[in-house]
Parts: sequence; C-alpha cells; structure tokens
Amino acid sequence: MGPPGVGKGTQAIRLQYLVGIRHVSIGDVLRRHIAEGTPLGVVARTYLRKGELVPDDLLTRMIIGQVLSPTRAGGVLLDGFPRTIDQADTLDAALARYGRRIDAVLCLTAPPETLLRRITGRRVCPACLAAYHLDTAPPQVPGACDNCGERLVQRSDDSHRIALHRLAVYTSQTQLLLDRYEQTSTVHRVDGTGSVADVTARLLAALYLAGLGEQDRQPTAWV
Ligand code: AP5
Repeated sequence: MGPPGVGKGTQAIRLQYLVGIRHVSIGDVLRRHIAEGTPLGVVARTYLRKGELVPDDLLTRMIIGQVLSPTRAGGVLLDGFPRTIDQADTLDAALARYGRRIDAVLCLTAPPETLLRRITGRRVCPACLAAYHLDTAPPQVPGACDNCGERLVQRSDDSHRIALHRLAVYTSQTQLLLDRYEQTSTVHRVDGTGSVADVTARLLAALYLAGLGEQDRQPTAWV
C-alpha cells in the first residue's frame, strides 16, 4: 500500500525477484484491459483518466477471480489492492474461502512533494509497461524503452492536476482502510524516500521482522 507515486510498482517488481513471490499490479491489469478494449476496460478507462477509483463491484469480481483462484499456487504480492474498506472485506472473505490469509501489510510513505515529482516525471512503455523517470531512472536512449524500443509515453493520469486529485482520493478513501489495518493487523510502514535500493533494503528488513524472511515460511498474501 501507499500513495500514488510512492514507488509501489518499482519495489514490487524487485521484491518479486528477490523474494520469489508473484506480483500483481491492479493498475497494470486495468491498463491492459483498457488497451485491449474489454468490457471492463471500457468502463475503467473513464475512472482512470479522472484519477478516480474504479467501482468496487467491477474490480473485485475481476481481481478475486483472476488473482486468488484456488488453482493458483503460492503467495501473491498485491500492489494497489485493496484500496477501500469494501474491497478489503471482499478480499478477506475470498481469502477465507480459499484457506488463505493476509500475512503482512506493507505501506510505503513519502512527502507530497516527492510523490508529485515522481508522478509527473514518470514515463512508461505502453507495450511492456516498464516505468522510467526523466530524472531518476531515464532510459538509455531518450524517449525509447530499454526493453523493447517502444516510444515512451506519459500516463494520462500523471498530469500535475490529476496527480493532485489522486492524492486526495488516497487520503479520503485508502487512508481509512490503512487506519483499520493498523488496528487489526501488523502494518509495516516503510520510508519510501531515498534511492530505490535503499527502499528495497528497508522493505526486506520489514519482511524479515514480519517473519516472512524465513526460508521455511510460505506467505500467502502480502498487500
Ligand atoms: P495504479 O497504477 O496502481 O496507480 P497508483 O496507486 O496511483 O500508483 P502509481 O502507479 O502512480 O505509483 P507507484 O506507487 O506504483 O510508483 P512507481 O513505482 O510507478 O492505479 C491507477 C488507477 O487505477 C487508480 O487511480 C484507479 O483509477 C485504478 N485502480 C487501481 N487500483 C484500484 C483499486 N484497488 N480500486 C479502484 N481503482 C483502482 O514510481 C513512480 C515514479 O517514481 C517512477 O517514475 C519511478 O521510476 C520513480 N521512483 C520510484 N521509486 C523511486 C525512488 N526511490 N527514487 C527516485 N525515483 C523513484
């Protein structure tokens, strides 16, 4: 968990390889639906462009079916889900049905000025979804993806105006959920400022403290 631009996606990709857990970015899943023009994508598009959350009923059906199916073995690192109390309730019920549970809630933090700088400087590859930053993580060839050469674009919700709105949505909706998690589970707040490597090291330390660094432990769901 964590506000827009704090580095959830950047860190989740690294943890996926370092810890060996499947990473699912709900934002990326939605953007794929939009690119493919699926019925969910057609509806989701209007919400993403405005920086609003996609309605719970649409989203949770997709997430629960696709991500938590009992046929999928191993744990999952959920990036960007749940964001509302309703989503969290649906997730808890589905996890219980599949005999799974949330093992840890990780929350990255950073001041608003850092978030805005990261969001407005971000550029993404529309083909492979790799993310760059004009100042802190530029591509080798300006404007082109290092992985596939595709022309990089700015996300439609990464303008200064929409970014401010997304931060407000986070404060009004997701902060409430975080407050609830603080009361019911162990939330690990991790400082998201500094270099990408520094933040990864803090996250790994938090996972270790949560008992998830042990080799014999098979986590089932991290948020
Ligand atoms: P989503 O794509 O999840 O957006 P978000 O939560 O707003 O998060 P971001 O992707 O903006 O940032 P991030 O924290 O992943 O940062 P990143 O690693 O990219 O969701 C988009 C939309 O989908 C939502 O607005 C909503 O409409 C919908 N949606 C998604 N989930 C939903 C849900 N559960 N319910 C309803 N609707 C939902 O990093 C940002 C930049 O900073 C990058 O350029 C990166 O290179 C750079 N950077 C990262 N770390 C560092 C560092 N340590 N130092 C310097 N630069 C850094």
